Amino acid sequence: MKTFDVFDAAFRADPYSVYTQYRRHEPVHRGRPPTPGDHDSGWWYLFRYADVAAVLKDPRFGRAIGPALDEPPPPVSAEEREPFWDMYRHWTLALEPPEHTRQRALLNRAFTTRVVEALRPSIAARATELLDGLGAHGRFDVVADYAFPLTLSIIAELIGVPQRDLARLKSWSATIVAVLDYKRTWDVMAAGNRMTDEFTAYMGEIAAARRAQPANDLITRLQSAGVEEPLSDEELISLCIMLLFAGHETTVNLISAGALLLLENPDQLALFRARPELADSAVDEFLRLHSPIQATTRIAYADVALGGRVIRRGESATLLLGAANRDPAVFSDADRLDIARQPNRHLAFGRGIHYCLGAPLAVAQGGIALRLLFERRPGWRLADAPTWSETFGFRGLNELKIERMK
Ligand code: HEM
Repeated sequence: MKTFDVFDAAFRADPYSVYTQYRRHEPVHRGRPPTPGDHDSGWWYLFRYADVAAVLKDPRFGRAIGPALDEPPPPVSAEEREPFWDMYRHWTLALEPPEHTRQRALLNRAFTTRVVEALRPSIAARATELLDGLGAHGRFDVVADYAFPLTLSIIAELIGVPQRDLARLKSWSATIVAVLDYKRTWDVMAAGNRMTDEFTAYMGEIAAARRAQPANDLITRLQSAGVEEPLSDEELISLCIMLLFAGHETTVNLISAGALLLLENPDQLALFRARPELADSAVDEFLRLHSPIQATTRIAYADVALGGRVIRRGESATLLLGAANRDPAVFSDADRLDIARQPNRHLAFGRGIHYCLGAPLAVAQGGIALRLLFERRPGWRLADAPTWSETFGFRGLNELKIERMK
C-alpha cells in the first residue's frame, strides 16, 4: 500500500473508501507523521476496530504529546513563552495517571448525569427559539444558524459564561481547532498563543467573580469540588477553556452530520420521526458513520506487537476512529445508516480512561436538536451540496443549507 497521506485530495474527498483499502490490505500501516516535520522516528496508522479499541485501553500507550510544526521555528527571545501548550498540559486528555485520575474524579463530581438531565429543558427551549426564528426563512444553514448557536449557548450556560460573549467564544474555539488539528503552521501557533492570553484573562475574571459570589454553574462547582486537593487557578481556567471548546465543536458536527444523514435517507427519517424513543440510538449511529473526531494519537511507552508488526517504544500511533467505526468485522452492512442498530459499540467517544466526559450531554443535545428540527418543522430538503472541513482529526460540515419543500 502507498504511504497513507491525510492531506491527499482523494482521501479528503472520500476518506471512507480509503479506510476500506487499508483495513483490508494493511490495517497496521507504517507511514509519515500527519503533521509534516513532526518527530519522524516512526508513525503508525491503525484502521481496524479491534486494534484501535485495544490501544485505547492499553496502558502501554499514552498521551504524552507536545508541539509539532511543519517548519523551523522563528527566532524567539528568552521572554517568549508558548502559552497555548502551557495551558494545554492541564487538559484532562493530556494527562496520565495519577494526575489524570485525580482530575477526572473532580470533573465527574462536578459534571454529573443530574447536571446533564437538568439541562434538557434549556436545550429544548433554545432549539425551539432558534427554529421559530428561522421559520420565517424558507432556507437556512444548519451549521451556522442552528447547531453552533445552540451548542455554544448550552455549554456557556453550563459553565457559567455570559451569553453576550458567544461570538468571542466561537472565534477562540475555532483557533483551538486549528492548533490541535494535525496541519498547523507557526502562524496558526502564534494565533493560538494570542488566543490563549485573551481567553485565559477572560476566564480568570469570571473565576474570580465566582469565588467572590458563587453561582449555580460548573465554574463554582469545580472551585469547591476537590476539598483535599483543590484545583489551582491555572488548572481551573485551563479546564474551563477545554470544556468550552470540547463541549460544542464536536456536537455541532454531530448535529449537522445527523441532519445530512437523515435527509439522504428518507426511510430512516420517516422512522426517526415516527419513533422518538430511537433518538439516542439514532445519535449513536450518526456518530458511528460520521465520527466528529476521526483520529486520535497515542505514543507507545513500550514495544508492542500488533497485527504482525511491532510498534517500538517512543513511536506514535494515529488511531482512525472513523475507520474502526465502519469495520465490517464488527458492524454488519457497515456503511448503511440504521438508526435502530443494536448493539452499536462505536468508538466515536473513545474508550478507556480518556472516554469522553461529555458523551451524555452530546447524546442529549444531538437527540433533542434533531428531533425538534424534523418534528417541529418537517418538509426540509438539501438546498446545496454540502462541503466538509479541511481539518483531518476534527471532521465536520462547513455548512449544510436546507430549504422547505414547496
Ligand atoms: C459529539 C460530541 C463529542 C464527541 C464525538 C467527542 C469525542 C471525544 C473523544 C473521541 C474523546 C477521547 C479522545 C482520546 O481518547 O484521545 C473525548 C474526550 C473528552 N471529551 Fe468529548 N466528545 C464530544 C462531546 C464532548 C462534550 C459535550 C464535552 C464536555 C462538555 C466533552 C469533553 C471531553 C473531555 C473533557 C474529554 C477528555 C476526557 C479524559 O481525558 O478523561 N466532549 N471526546
